[in-house]
Amino acid sequence: QPGNTRVLPLGPQAIDEAARLIAEGWPVAVPTETVYGLAADATSGAAVARIYEAKGRPSFNPLIVHVPGLDAARRIAHFDPMAERLAAAHWPGPLTLVLPLREAAGIASLVTAGLSTVALRVPAHRAMRALLAAVGRPLAAPSANASGRISPTRAEHVLASLGGRIPLILDGGLTALGLESTIVAVDGEGLRLLRPGPIDLGLEPTARGRIEAPGQLASHYAPAKPVRLDATEAAADEWLIGFGEVTGDASLSPSGDLVEAAARLFDALHQAEAAPRARIAVAPIPDTGLGAAINDRLRRAAAPRPETT
Ligand code: TXA
Ligand code: MG
Repeated sequence: QPGNTRVLPLGPQAIDEAARLIAEGWPVAVPTETVYGLAADATSGAAVARIYEAKGRPSFNPLIVHVPGLDAARRIAHFDPMAERLAAAHWPGPLTLVLPLREAAGIASLVTAGLSTVALRVPAHRAMRALLAAVGRPLAAPSANASGRISPTRAEHVLASLGGRIPLILDGGLTALGLESTIVAVDGEGLRLLRPGPIDLGLEPTARGRIEAPGQLASHYAPAKPVRLDATEAAADEWLIGFGEVTGDASLSPSGDLVEAAARLFDALHQAEAAPRARIAVAPIPDTGLGAAINDRLRRAAAPRPETT
């Protein structure tokens, strides 16, 4: 567990140390050209769960996946001609594209919060680029602040917000832009501005005349079957997702580990959705730490559709 948070000035040794920690499954704070990100291995559900744990985020929002270039991005998502044009014009840089996720792309389901789309960005900052090269894996990275706090533009901001909760902060001084990346969804219907940011594409707000705010996505993944919470036993027509002592048909974590449970949550919901039972039941999850975020998501999954966000 990270007890002391070290702050290292940017340099080859600091990048090596950050890459080593990320390979071990820890999130590390790293500057980008927009704001400091809290980066972890996007292919590891447990590593991504530790991002949420460190931020104390009370719910799971999908995270941006950072990759070194367009080739790596194409291995993760489907690019139509419009997406290709945007990437060619603005990458590396502060533009995030939300695109259809490829099957077997290897991205942990907790990164996309179970959605069939993925947010991708090729950062321009030398620290994030060096880290991507050293780790050799895509990095999921939300802003490196505790939940509900403003995004950090200096290592000192990260330390004040997440000190004691993460092992390492790479100090690259003040970030150049200080504002999170522009987020655009590209799908068959064209472009939708999900978050305004440093890159102005001249997009109007969405057709309904509003911009979808981060974390308020209309497109939360929800299973297409009724979900019953706090179940200790399954009815005949229920697939029971277990936790701890409740074994169920499949368990989020037999040992009652919340990091493991968070990492498996969306895979477990998809598995339950595909199972030959009409309903889904879920064992009680303690409401402490990451459990609060798991329960938030489970309550949304169990809420009547269309759900409110
Ligand atoms: O500048 C930035 O983008 C920074 C730096 C660190 O790269 N990162 C950042 O990440 O701001 P974060 O997690 O704070 O913002 C991610 C937002 C989510 O709240 C959500 O609105 C959107 O990206 N997002 C991610 N995946 C999505 C998806 N599949 N569909 C729609 N929106 C998505
Ligand atoms: Mg943020």
